[in-house]
Amino acid sequence: MTSQHYFEPRPKAAHRPGLVRVVLPDVYLELATDSGVFSPGRLDPGTRLLLERAPAPPAGDLLDLGCGYGPIACVLAARSPGATVWAVDVNERALGLCARNAEAAGLRNVRVAAPDDPAIPGRFAGIWSNPPVRIGKAPLHDLLRGWLSRLAPGAGASLVMGRNLGADSLHAWLEQEGWSVTRLAARSGYRLLQVSPTIPERTRGDSR
Ligand SMILES: C[S@@+](CC[C@H](N)C(=O)[O-])C[C@H]1O[C@@H](n2cnc3c(N)ncnc32)[C@H](O)[C@@H]1O
Repeated sequence: MTSQHYFEPRPKAAHRPGLVRVVLPDVYLELATDSGVFSPGRLDPGTRLLLERAPAPPAGDLLDLGCGYGPIACVLAARSPGATVWAVDVNERALGLCARNAEAAGLRNVRVAAPDDPAIPGRFAGIWSNPPVRIGKAPLHDLLRGWLSRLAPGAGASLVMGRNLGADSLHAWLEQEGWSVTRLAARSGYRLLQVSPTIPERTRGDSR
């Protein structure tokens, strides 16, 4: 069972190369996929909602948390050539695909990294994520707590999640943790949340 999760560090599934075309008004990309990574057969509808409706990426260090084969990282990099997009994932097969896809698309501003890579900067000018809900609620909360705390002053995070996977309870939890949360868009059961700091970092999470 565990070997079939898309968040397995080293997927054991036999390789099954595929291709996903990302067609947006401003970006067209052909991305290689494989078995053992998230949504290898099509651009995930939640990811599409995020790419269509999230705020435009600024320059600076940006984070795609849980990059998979790289649809978010590559689109951010294409939209903001002055940014360095850190594409982070635990799944080595996903990291390999993301690196290959960025290179094939000529996106030299994508940096692929495992979460513990010391090269990853301490602060981000923005975070974009279709987060790994299936790791479980407590691990997801820990994951988000850790990475959201690395938002630079004035920066925000765009998170997309399925309603049936807990988007509304995540929204409530983020507010409890002291974040300001706006629902930017909702479509086909997905919610796009924009998260930004409201209170000084040192007091965030103290209400728990
Ligand atoms: C829902 S998928 C999204 C993939 C890709 N961004 C997309 O939109 O197609 C979530 C990703 O998070 C990754 N992930 C799971 N646990 C993680 C962790 N602790 N740190 C970083 N990424 C993680 C999974 O391997 C998976 O690729």
